Amino acid sequence: YQPVKIAPSILSADFMNLGQDIRMIEEGGAAFVHIDVMDGHFVPNLTMGVPLLKQLKPATNLLCDVHLMIDNPLDELPWFIDAGADLLNVHVEALDEADLARAIAQIHEAGLLAAAALKPKTPVSALSPVIAELDMALVMSVEPGFSGQSYIAGSDLKVAEVVQMARAAGNEELLIQVDGGIGLATAPLVAAAGADVLVCGNAVFKADDPRAAIGAVKGAADE
Ligand code: DX5
Ligand code: ZN
Repeated sequence: YQPVKIAPSILSADFMNLGQDIRMIEEGGAAFVHIDVMDGHFVPNLTMGVPLLKQLKPATNLLCDVHLMIDNPLDELPWFIDAGADLLNVHVEALDEADLARAIAQIHEAGLLAAAALKPKTPVSALSPVIAELDMALVMSVEPGFSGQSYIAGSDLKVAEVVQMARAAGNEELLIQVDGGIGLATAPLVAAAGADVLVCGNAVFKADDPRAAIGAVKGAADE
């Protein structure tokens, strides 16, 4: 049994003081820094991308976890590889089956970790063609697009399904990440179902003490 890892989402950070916020999550014991890239097409919001990642990467020791909420991510993968991503996460809904396999192969060829993400309404079966190849699977527990939304009840059941599928495929090393509405109340649920990496936006950055919030969510998850 491994303790959960926390991946604070900088979509909830203070952009005017981003450097300080990164120091804060490093000191608080975050494992990853989660970067939400949105294109205004795949999701109804536009956020951050390559120029930010290029500056962030050399400024932190945290693993840069890039969540691509964009159409046709195959075209943009090289940009994020060059900009210093450590882990690239593509949505299964943005790619057909052949391109999903291609995207994962491309990410691996570049020496990065590869993840695939599921929107709340996408069945876990969408991961089956690639589950054996993945380093991480992401179960979205809100509709992607915005931070600060409420956890969709039952998302932990999808986590448990991914655990089963990974076992059946012989991928015992697969990390399972959950993203959306994760905090003190929901972390125990998803951790009990088998989640390894918890994305936290508001639960960390909108807390009075973000450093302590990381420890508190970990503590709640590992109880
Ligand atoms: C939503 C993003 C999430 C979001 C998490 O589309 O993928 O990473 O920023 O924020 P909270 O934890 O506030 O739901
Ligand atoms: Zn995200």
